[in-house]
Amino acid sequence: MEDLFPYPVARIGLIGGGQLGRMMVKAAKRLGCTCVVLDPLQGSPAGQVAGHQIVGDYSDPAMLRELAESCDVVTFELEDIETETLLRLEAEGHKIHPRPELLAIIQDKYRQKCFLRDAGIPTSEFVDMPAPERDGFAAFGYPLVQKARRGGYDGRGVVVMPNAQSYDTHLPVAGYVERFVEAEKELAVMVARNVHGECRAYPTVEMRFHARDNVLDFLVAPAQVSDEVARRAEALAVRTVEAMDGVGVFGIEMFLTAEGELLVNEVAPRTHNSGHHTIEACVTDQFEQHLRAILGLPLGDTRQLTPATMVNLLGEPGYQGRPVIAGLAAVLAIPGVCVHIYGKAVTKPGRKMGHVTVVDDAIDAACSKAKQVKERIRILGDSKL
Ligand SMILES: Nc1ncnc2c1ncn2[C@@H]1O[C@H](COP(=O)(O)OP(=O)(O)O)[C@@H](O)[C@H]1O
Ligand SMILES: [Mg+2]
Repeated sequence: MEDLFPYPVARIGLIGGGQLGRMMVKAAKRLGCTCVVLDPLQGSPAGQVAGHQIVGDYSDPAMLRELAESCDVVTFELEDIETETLLRLEAEGHKIHPRPELLAIIQDKYRQKCFLRDAGIPTSEFVDMPAPERDGFAAFGYPLVQKARRGGYDGRGVVVMPNAQSYDTHLPVAGYVERFVEAEKELAVMVARNVHGECRAYPTVEMRFHARDNVLDFLVAPAQVSDEVARRAEALAVRTVEAMDGVGVFGIEMFLTAEGELLVNEVAPRTHNSGHHTIEACVTDQFEQHLRAILGLPLGDTRQLTPATMVNLLGEPGYQGRPVIAGLAAVLAIPGVCVHIYGKAVTKPGRKMGHVTVVDDAIDAACSKAKQVKERIRILGDSKL
């Protein structure tokens, strides 16, 4: 193949206009690509940057067709998309990565678990629970975790149940129950695999969660684990994406047990919150890497050049309306602090409004700076709840 590309290098169709899309559009422009975003919200975070947005639902067949027909390759930044139309468009010859059939497996958490088990990927034990019932949960045994099959994110489709009394907190939805894992740490590995099967992992990171609402609180990169554990996590993540025959960037979430065992928790078929630090800390960031992967270009260097931490900026409880960023100048005064504001027009309690990456030569210093950042910066709103 001759190494000649037109401008634009490719027209990317992006389903979903949130922050992941926004950062992908920026990377796309850097690579000489253009983007069309499909999102129901006019002026979405990604749409603002792309300059071209189709305003419509992610699962509207006519909109998806319009998107596919105006682009060279279609991808997505979220999982909850109707796959029927995508499968049809793919059968007609439109390029869609990751492939819709894989999206259909991953977006249904029960099918995803079955896939992992059948592929011999270590994951916690589980049973189907299409309609929650007390006896079924008790028969499986506590402590357990109930998960909704579809639509959950940021812990919203997950309930941890320590004992039989907690049955009353269950979600009244189709789902499954799995063994509660006493995790020493939660790790994540971002993996890229391109259309030619070339596959690379980023160094393992460590996710620390809010005890209360399961939202990622704090990310430490690289993970503070032995080299042996980190390499084993990366190998497991690569094995998982290869078993899925995945194309694009994938986030593989794992539990590390006290015995040193690694269990895959879940797979995201997209760029991921635990890869945001790659923008400042790695040679090639996860967003550019995803584009390289789906366009069949050589994958970029995944090496991490500096230790980093990352904190999400969530809408402060008690506020809504237009965002008001308190403490921005204070955190920008800290060396190594990089602020990302997502351009969302309204804030809500707990909504992801931005993130901050901190780079420092020493991981301990990066962690203490991240704590300072968390204390100082707040996303308030112009109206009180
Ligand atoms: N089997 C489990 N054992 C212990 N904790 C779990 C288990 N499954 C999920 N969790 C906790 O809940 C969080 C969210 O669950 P996850 O399946 O990753 O859903 P989400 O799609 O919301 O990220 C996990 O990061 C972890 O902290
Ligand atoms: Mg998760």
